[in-house]
Amino acid sequence: MKATSDWKQMKEKGEKITMVTAYDYPSAKQSEAAGMDTILVGDSLGMTVLGYASTVQVTMDDMIHHARAVRRGAPDTYVVVDMPFGTYHGNVDDSVQNALDLYQATDANAIKLEGAGCIDIIRRAVAAGVPVVAHLGLTPQSVGVTGFRMQASDEAAAMQLIQDAKAVESAGASMLVLEAIPSDLAEKVTAVLGIPTIGIGAGVNVDGQVLVYHDVLQYGTERLPKFVRPYADFNTAGVQGLKSYVAAVKAGEFPDVSTTYKRKVFEE
Ligand code: KIV
Repeated sequence: MKATSDWKQMKEKGEKITMVTAYDYPSAKQSEAAGMDTILVGDSLGMTVLGYASTVQVTMDDMIHHARAVRRGAPDTYVVVDMPFGTYHGNVDDSVQNALDLYQATDANAIKLEGAGCIDIIRRAVAAGVPVVAHLGLTPQSVGVTGFRMQASDEAAAMQLIQDAKAVESAGASMLVLEAIPSDLAEKVTAVLGIPTIGIGAGVNVDGQVLVYHDVLQYGTERLPKFVRPYADFNTAGVQGLKSYVAAVKAGEFPDVSTTYKRKVFEE
């Protein structure tokens, strides 16, 4: 399994870092089998597997429940777990305690926090021994304010994002996710930081990439964001498989001899 110290070395060597979200035992097993460098138990699980319209409804219990399943499915992969909405936005002491609790309860390797408003929490969590991944640009927990759209497109916002990136690095973050920002800005941030940047909708000139499992494999998705390239089509394969099952049952072709138990017949 990779260690937190490996990320900086990979950046220095120019070795790209791969990250995908996973939310349960089978998606974690597949990600580990695929050789993923790191798995993110994203609070995007609120949308991809729980059917909410955003990540805002996701709770601490949800994150712990899913992250434990991921840990069981990927025992040898570096796992990052998201702190959910509202668990690090009150006073700093409670926020830091929530960070420690999530880290301890899930056996994850790091926690992730969104935005630049949590510098003190990053500093104190790292001081307490919890590796932290930061997340800037489009931060989905704030979509009620920002909407799901590209961020930092004007000069002032771009300068602010560079300052925020330096601040999260100084506070001790070991990686920085950059979501939905112009690619030239992502390149600039990547050049000024010593820690790796992991892009999602941030172009190719970053240190690694993260995508959502359900987007990469087209699983339960209806519309994909512009920055996603799907690599499989579970939607079509899944519906096709279930249709074949329905047809076989209706036609009396399933179960057949090979899928039926028989009582042993003893000769007298
Ligand atoms: O929750 C999530 O899936 C994320 C990624 C979009 C980076 O934070």
